[in-house]
Amino acid sequence: MSTPNPKQRDFFDEKAAEWDQKVRHDALKVERIVDLLSPCRGWRVLDVGTGTGVLIPFLLHRLGGEGSMMAVDYSENMLRVAAGKFPPSTYPNLEFLKADILTDELPDEYDAVICYSVFPHFMDQPRAVRRLSRCLRLGGLLMVAHSSSRETINGVHMEAGREVANDFLPPMPELLAMMRAAGMELVYSQDDEEYYIALARRVKA
Ligand SMILES: C[S@@+](CC[C@H](N)C(=O)[O-])C[C@H]1O[C@@H](n2cnc3c(N)ncnc32)[C@H](O)[C@@H]1O
Repeated sequence: MSTPNPKQRDFFDEKAAEWDQKVRHDALKVERIVDLLSPCRGWRVLDVGTGTGVLIPFLLHRLGGEGSMMAVDYSENMLRVAAGKFPPSTYPNLEFLKADILTDELPDEYDAVICYSVFPHFMDQPRAVRRLSRCLRLGGLLMVAHSSSRETINGVHMEAGREVANDFLPPMPELLAMMRAAGMELVYSQDDEEYYIALARRVKA
């Protein structure tokens, strides 16, 4: 199946080269998000919508040499920037995958799947949650996280350009209902001025 919204993908392709200059992340907040996920050494983690790979350094060192990360994105240019920063010679336990998580076949049996700053862009959010939950082993964790409030994120998208102007974070109860419907149980949620975070565990086969 082709990507449901090619214009949105083109938008990210066009922004890739300047992304790291334009988009700043509060390292302490990202660190806290990763703390909440609590990845163990040896885990396999899927980083969904990796972009230029902002999460990679925060996650990879926690996984140790025996763990691994798959960084997935549907934007070729974003992946090219990320791969330039994290080459295989230095990061042998990191792989990149070009895929649309809504339509393409995805690898599975991950210990954790993290969607950092990407969830609003999924055209069909219940489908995304269902598909990503299937990438987890039983007991594995799915996290949706933003280091700003829902209101801030939705406002940023309305301003950013028409390709992403309707890309909204749902009210938290709606996201939690999607997670439950996908066979997950809630571990943690936070929806305030600082963060939008939902962490759930896959409990149903
Ligand atoms: C707002 S950027 C965030 C990138 C990175 N996580 C960060 O925080 O800097 C969203 C990223 O998700 C990717 N993306 C959006 N929808 C996607 C989908 N359906 N499948 C794969 N990647 C997607 C975009 O190409 C883009 O790189």
